[in-house]
Amino acid sequence: MSDTVQSAPVEARTSMDPGAPMPGVATGVVYLDGRYVPRDEARVSVDDRGFLFGDGAYEVTRAIRGRLFEGARHARRLARTLRGLDIALPDDQIAALDAVALRLLRENGLEDGEAAVYLQVTRGTAVPRTHHFPPAGTHPTVYAAATRFVPPSALRERGASVVTVADVRWARCDLKTVNLLPNAMAKQRAVAAGADEALFVRDGMLMEGSHSNAFAVLDGVLRTAPATNYILAGITRDVVLELAREAGIPVLEYPLLAAEVPLASELFMTSTTSDVLPVVRVDGRPVGDGAPGPVARRLYEMLAARMYAS
Ligand code: PDD
Repeated sequence: MSDTVQSAPVEARTSMDPGAPMPGVATGVVYLDGRYVPRDEARVSVDDRGFLFGDGAYEVTRAIRGRLFEGARHARRLARTLRGLDIALPDDQIAALDAVALRLLRENGLEDGEAAVYLQVTRGTAVPRTHHFPPAGTHPTVYAAATRFVPPSALRERGASVVTVADVRWARCDLKTVNLLPNAMAKQRAVAAGADEALFVRDGMLMEGSHSNAFAVLDGVLRTAPATNYILAGITRDVVLELAREAGIPVLEYPLLAAEVPLASELFMTSTTSDVLPVVRVDGRPVGDGAPGPVARRLYEMLAARMYAS
């Protein structure tokens, strides 16, 4: 499914992807290596390791009325990914990215309503191309952009359909790297099947979505894969787990087995751009009674209360 389009009618938006400008139209100001430049003038070198190797980290953060939702957690996760990849961006530069995001919101007229802030840090530009890392002192490339975001409320009301795909990713899915080819291919499989998201299955267990975490309700217990190296520990996942405990819902951090899907009363996905998204079909078969369920609804309402608290 293509990225959401700012001016499309809400009903036409079925994507879980962040809001994006009109296709082919480059607007607004982005941040690149210390400068704020018009998006269509921003240039990254062909020798950038992000381009050549997918050698970089990224974050997507939600902004509501000019403020970052869970900004500190996103910054901590970015720092963790950078450490895990051995990309040396000093802590003060990571801390300064908050101010970059806020300025992008301001300069792009996004301080009202909702926006998504995309942030990417690659290992930088180095010649010649070598698999091993460039010399110490090579500056990471830092890119950030903010775009209007429209929450997927129509999809949440209707419920999403997902297809399962084999999880062929590497064993460091806990790092949020831009090396997203398996995720992109999985999501494309979903789109080609007319579904909204792909669900990675590893050794018979539901791990996570192509860009979301997965939850299920089985016998009244909320189940989600534990935060191991096989999933990304989503910020929304963390918040939803907190909210579930607050609501007294029993939680088990153990993945739902693919064989248990027919027994689950509910399934839902979580992410910065999908909030709590009920799943009503898996591989064409209905989940529970085939409609969004009460646990997902309750947790979405609790999440929204936190996100939109003024
Ligand atoms: N993706 N798992 C994967 C593989 C993801 O890419 C994401 C987020 C999540 C959910 O994490 P969070 O709740 O922190 O957004 C889980 C972002 C939104 C993206 O790639 O656009």
